[in-house]
Amino acid sequence: MDLQQEQQQWWIRWQEGRIGFHLPEVNPLLIRHVHSLATDTHPNERSCILVPLCGKSKDLIWLQSHFHKVIGVELVPQAVEAFFEENQITPTYSLRDSFATYLHGNLALLQGDIFQMSSKYLEDHPIQAIFDRASLIALPDKLRKNYVALLRSLGSSNTKLLLVTLAYEEGTISGPPHSIPENKIFELFAFATNIEQLEKQDILPESPNFQKAGLRWAYEAVYLITFP
Ligand SMILES: C[S@@+](CC[C@H](N)C(=O)[O-])C[C@H]1O[C@@H](n2cnc3c(N)ncnc32)[C@H](O)[C@@H]1O
Repeated sequence: MDLQQEQQQWWIRWQEGRIGFHLPEVNPLLIRHVHSLATDTHPNERSCILVPLCGKSKDLIWLQSHFHKVIGVELVPQAVEAFFEENQITPTYSLRDSFATYLHGNLALLQGDIFQMSSKYLEDHPIQAIFDRASLIALPDKLRKNYVALLRSLGSSNTKLLLVTLAYEEGTISGPPHSIPENKIFELFAFATNIEQLEKQDILPESPNFQKAGLRWAYEAVYLITFP
């Protein structure tokens, strides 16, 4: 599948409502670990957080009351529209080069391809924190290195990334979600000054699709990754 087809698949998924990844509530892992994103120089309430491939996640709303500025990036217009509609928010809208920009309070939701993102879209908001839940694992292998390099370029010195990933027995299902085991995380983020696994949970018991596919193991892992 080429890159255009990959992206089309996301449009189709949203159109057909195949969005099993969407949680109806704020991600409990975010609530549990948000404090780890803070640093001495940048407590969360003074930081700008980037949420790449954000879908219509409720996390964006929750983050608004914990961070100074929240920037979400999502490819599919339907997801962005659903986010505002379901949360009864009327944003202001403008079009800027590669991104349709929706603003509301301290939230900026940029609709477009994350790979078109650059610091010019961050205005005067250096990124001190990043929350990636099911974003890295949504991308095919060939894009992951570029995605990580992009996050690094958008971040600033000492940026902290809270990363929620999956790993499962490979062979029987083809993602997304893709399996990214620990060794791959350490490879992808070899430039980091610190990689800490905060949590690792067996998710097979509550994953009927994985069970049906005959997987013998699957886990969700949370990492805190510090950029140089
Ligand atoms: C697995 S979902 C995760 C959504 C969100 N992080 C959550 O926790 O609900 C991945 C999302 O990334 C979006 N996406 C895929 N490719 C993208 C790209 N190149 N740029 C921006 N968003 C993209 C998809 O439309 C989808 O909403």
